[in-house]
Amino acid sequence: THPTSASLPSPSFSVDTETLQNQIDELATFSDVPAPAVTRVLYSDKDVLARSYIKKLMEKAGLSIREDAVGNIFGRWNGKDTSLAAVATGSHIDAIPFSGKYDGVVGVLGALEAINVLKRSGFQPRRSLEVIMFTSEEPTRFGISCLGSRLMAGIEELADALKGTVDGQNISFFDAAKSAGYNLNHEDLKNVFVKKDHYSAFIELHIEQGPILEEEGLPIGIVTAIAAPASIKVEFEGNGGHAGAVLMPARNDAGLAAAELALAVEKHVLESGSIDTVGTVGIIELHPGAINSIPSKSHIEIDTRDIDEKRRNNVVEKVHQSAVSIAEKRRVRLSKFQIINQDPPALSAESIIRAMTIAAEKLNLSHKLMISRAYHDSLFMARISPMGMIFIPCNKGYSHKPEEYASMEDIANGVKVLALTLAKLSVD
Ligand code: GLV
Ligand code: MN
Ligand code: MN
Ligand code: MN
Repeated sequence: THPTSASLPSPSFSVDTETLQNQIDELATFSDVPAPAVTRVLYSDKDVLARSYIKKLMEKAGLSIREDAVGNIFGRWNGKDTSLAAVATGSHIDAIPFSGKYDGVVGVLGALEAINVLKRSGFQPRRSLEVIMFTSEEPTRFGISCLGSRLMAGIEELADALKGTVDGQNISFFDAAKSAGYNLNHEDLKNVFVKKDHYSAFIELHIEQGPILEEEGLPIGIVTAIAAPASIKVEFEGNGGHAGAVLMPARNDAGLAAAELALAVEKHVLESGSIDTVGTVGIIELHPGAINSIPSKSHIEIDTRDIDEKRRNNVVEKVHQSAVSIAEKRRVRLSKFQIINQDPPALSAESIIRAMTIAAEKLNLSHKLMISRAYHDSLFMARISPMGMIFIPCNKGYSHKPEEYASMEDIANGVKVLALTLAKLSVD
């Protein structure tokens, strides 16, 4: 039997904004840098503390908690029919160096509050509802973004690549996981994979990380697609030497090769013909890193994205050609050109776009359809489940910096749209 919409909660339900703000503030204290900046890196002590905080809140919400081998955390509210695929929602709580306290967090704490809202309203889900806290959406420690959701989507190559993956301190992925209490081996990674019919829907609530909603005075964005990200690690090697004694014609400076490649990235991106193509060189490291030593090694990391996968791939190809020709011209060795990820874009499911739109309308919240230029765990959840995302405005579009801010009014609106969407999808 199909319950009628009479069994849906009334859209007048209220969000406990005071508690939610306190939780956001408390979570932000689990950080390796002073406020207002937040740094919370995968499997660090602060990450472990933040994880137990989330589990405590899940327990308080009456959810049954499961944790997989890499520390994706699941809190489930059993529906009336547990034989049906569940409806899931969630995001991440790891934070890149010197970022803010809303990226990801709004989609985890906000999801828990959406569950609490539904519970307080007396709603009974038919499909189970599940809140997911994903492990390491950010690539900070191991260079791999959306580590938890990529594995859930069953990407075997990642499971294999993790065998040889180390962080900047040469700590292996498995040792880092072990230090955080996740004692796993390569075989356990397969248990993280999730079957395609496990979830009937996945929805992520997130700050926009761009300025559009604020500029247009809209409280809700309904995401139709997520842009395609790629990242590349490059290394050049030269002879190095004394900064005074080696004359310019005798040098092959690995640092200058990196600098030239960074400028080439910008050039190829600007030449794509579209404003939607972006490229960033956020990491350049020089060895030995002394003012009076010619860099003998350089390491650079490149992030490029587009809503058009082909155009993005074209940039990757051109960056490769530039790396080869710069190495040749400067007589350095291109010792690494490693494409870490080159992901296709993802589309939201029509059915979920519809459910989110109806929810926003019931709540009298104006909204627009938009794309996500940032990536999210939703990019990978879309491979195993119909996916949708709800955006809320954030101050000036700031993100990945300490000035990141979203008002509690906007967060509460997002929580309500999420709650109503989850409720609707759980009775479908
Ligand atoms: C995720 O944080 C991204 O870089 O889009
Ligand atoms: Mn982020
Ligand atoms: Mn995020
Ligand atoms: Mn992100």
